[in-house]
Amino acid sequence: MTEVAHGGRSEEISPEEVGLRFEVDGEIATVTLARPEKRNAQTFATWSALARIGEDLPQQVRVVVVQGEGPSFSAGIDLRMFTPEGVPGQGSFASTATLDGKAFDERIAQAQQGFMWLRRPDIVSIAAVQGHAVGAGFQLALACDLRIVADDVRFCMKEPALGLVPDLTGTKPLVDLVGLSRAVEICLTARTVGAEEAARIGLAELVVARDELAQAVRDLAAALLSTNRDAATATKRLLQGAAGRTLEEQCAAERQEQMMRIKALFG
Ligand code: CAA
Repeated sequence: MTEVAHGGRSEEISPEEVGLRFEVDGEIATVTLARPEKRNAQTFATWSALARIGEDLPQQVRVVVVQGEGPSFSAGIDLRMFTPEGVPGQGSFASTATLDGKAFDERIAQAQQGFMWLRRPDIVSIAAVQGHAVGAGFQLALACDLRIVADDVRFCMKEPALGLVPDLTGTKPLVDLVGLSRAVEICLTARTVGAEEAARIGLAELVVARDELAQAVRDLAAALLSTNRDAATATKRLLQGAAGRTLEEQCAAERQEQMMRIKALFG
């Protein structure tokens, strides 16, 4: 069972209701958004369940694949959130709007936890994206380290068109990947980005035919598992820190990480 915070309260939601599947095969874990009949729309329960998966990730896992069942990766937040009735057991935007500043902040921070762990240095996360990746769906793909996309992919940051901002950790990776100007243009027009453009502007590492997506992800996972685990973790840590450091600071960080590697290997 998954516990879902709801304005200070907690409720138990079954995994079936959450619409997520989690499988581990050796060093590879797969998270599947499994509500294809609703285009894998996401709720606060989805994000709580994702956070719990991150917290409980088995120690042996090195690669996490995030995928969506059916024609679309994810159509974003469940549109019932925009109705007065909301999502059963989870409220609506109207009920969220009544929370005070601290409770509101905590609610969104908890949702963001479902996305944050996918950047951990000890794992590499791969989003396998086909069809629509809208709003929260786009942001879930952006939370992953790598994106392999099918040629029918349709990324869209819909939030500004709905009067909202993207708040599920997606704005920073988007800017990091495509640059500020392109990110402004994509978000503030809420337009669709297709496969060819996604690859060209750095949103996707690889574009494949729809029926080759699963195999392409398996191949990439195998390649990622071929390197030394501790070296991979240290290298990802170095790369993640690079943008925030000067060249001199980065050189010092390289020396520090290498010292630990050489001591571990030969000391
Ligand atoms: N929430 C709830 N249900 C959804 C949904 C969503 N986001 N998206 C699709 N569905 C449901 C439809 O209502 C439909 O259900 P029924 O069969 O019961 O009528 C079913 O899924 C199939 O939908 P479509 O027939 O529309 O499927 P499609 O393949 O033709 O189109 C789509 C796919 C383009 C993604 C279209 O479904 C769509 O535009 N969905 C809404 C996208 C959207 O605006 N999402 C919100 C983005 S903003 C965000 O995520 C973050 C935020 O606000 C904070």
